[in-house]
Amino acid sequence: MWDYIRADFWRRVELISAGMPRKRAIILTLYANGFWAVMLFRLADWFKNHRLSPLYYVILKVCEILTGVDLRGKFGKGFCIMHGRGVVVSRHSVCGSNLTIFQGVTIGSKRLFHGVQTQKKSISKAPRILNNVTIYAGAAVIGDIEIGNNVTIGANAVVLKDVPSGSTAVGNPAKIKKNVKKR
Ligand SMILES: CC(C)(COP(=O)(O)OP(=O)(O)OC[C@H]1O[C@@H](n2cnc3c(N)ncnc32)[C@H](O)[C@@H]1OP(=O)(O)O)[C@@H](O)C(=O)NCCC(=O)NCCS
Repeated sequence: MWDYIRADFWRRVELISAGMPRKRAIILTLYANGFWAVMLFRLADWFKNHRLSPLYYVILKVCEILTGVDLRGKFGKGFCIMHGRGVVVSRHSVCGSNLTIFQGVTIGSKRLFHGVQTQKKSISKAPRILNNVTIYAGAAVIGDIEIGNNVTIGANAVVLKDVPSGSTAVGNPAKIKKNVKKR
C-alpha cells in the first residue's frame, strides 16, 4: 500500500508543480479533494486485500460522502484525480499506472448492473485503461473497450470504442483527432 501511496503523492506533486515552488505543490496536494479520495481508496483496497471487506465498504462510503468520488476497480501506481467531485469508476474497470482523471468523469459498464450480472462468468464489461492516460472533465468511458497507452480523452467526450495508443479522442461519440498537439 505504501508504494502506491508514495507513487500517487509524488506524481500529483510533479503534475501540479510546473511553475511553482515544490513546497507549494506539496501543500496544494495535501489540500486537494481528489488526492484524499485516492488515499481513502488505497486504504480501502488494503482492507479488501486483507479479507476485511466490511471496512473496505465503510471506507469507500466515507470517501464518497466526503469527496464526492465513487471509486471501485483496480488502479496502478501514480493515480491522480484532479478536483474530483462527480467521479465514478465501476468495480470491473482495470486501470494501469499514471492515470489522471478530472471532475465528472465516469468509467463504467454500458448498461445498468451489466458487469454485476455477468460477474459469475468473470466477464468484465467495463473499460480496460492502459498506462499514462488522461481523461478530462465530464468524459464518459463506457463498455467493454480498451484505452491504449498515452491516450488523452477530451472534456465531455463519450468514448464507446477502443482508443489506440498515443491518440486523442474527443466528442460525442468520441472520434480520434489527428491534429491535436502532443501533451
Ligand atoms: C482534448 C484537449 C486536451 C485537446 O487540446 P488541444 O491539443 O489544444 O487541441 P485543440 O484545441 O488544438 O483542438 C484540436 C481539435 O479537437 C477539437 N476538440 C478539442 N477538444 C475537444 C473537446 N473536448 N470536444 C470536442 N472537440 C474538441 C477542436 O475543436 C479541434 O477540432 P478541429 O481540428 O476540427 O478544429 C482539450 O481540448 C480538452 O478537452 N481539454 C480538457 C480541459 C479540461 O477538462 N480542463 C479542466 C480543468 S479543471
